[in-house]
Amino acid sequence: MTARHRNPSPASRRPARPTAGADAQTEPGGEDRVQPDQRPATLDECRRCALWHDATQPVPGRGPRRAAILLVGEQPGDQEDKAGEPFVGPAGGLLDRALVEADVRRDDVFVTNAVKHFKWFPRGKRRMHKTPAQREVMACHYWLEKELASVRPRVAVALGATALRALMQRADVRLTANLGQPMQAGDLTVVPTYHPSFILRAPDEASRQMAYAALVQALRLAGRIAEKTSAP
Ligand code: URA
Repeated sequence: MTARHRNPSPASRRPARPTAGADAQTEPGGEDRVQPDQRPATLDECRRCALWHDATQPVPGRGPRRAAILLVGEQPGDQEDKAGEPFVGPAGGLLDRALVEADVRRDDVFVTNAVKHFKWFPRGKRRMHKTPAQREVMACHYWLEKELASVRPRVAVALGATALRALMQRADVRLTANLGQPMQAGDLTVVPTYHPSFILRAPDEASRQMAYAALVQALRLAGRIAEKTSAP
């Protein structure tokens, strides 16, 4: 990405950028570098990978301090990057609809992403989504772990393959082979399902409906698991 395409952001929201060359990650060609030894205290200070550089701001998870259900997406999109909140754009709209249908209240769930900065590439004036590299997902697992430790969910819904790999901490786990089947990651039950953006991009109405039904079913299942495992 060139400086020309960097997203301007309110100065109050982000720390000063190091000058060019002061931070090896920000140099051309350094965009995929990770620094897993860094242990930042806040997301604003995070330089564990280079994605912070072209994002407006980090997007932390949002929801109750404690929640039985955690929803994990891939990374913030264009609108989330600007708003600083997860799932507020078109994918969020579809997720909201599916939650209503599954009888799960969004206010009761903690919603987050595997990667906390928007990774994008320019196309004209638009910022297009770019899938994060596995090493960026692993670098950002530092933050997902913190969210899991403080929210202490009983069940996590993995929205798409990136979220599933992040939650299972395995690069080889396949979404399609495990779709809708609860998996264990230690004490946490993980329900893998389609990402809302995948559903929005479905090539035809029949596949869209099929994928949407799978998402609703996964959310409903997460609701049942959360209820079943709650204290009597
Ligand atoms: N897609 C995601 O994975 N997360 C968001 O927050 C928005 C879109």
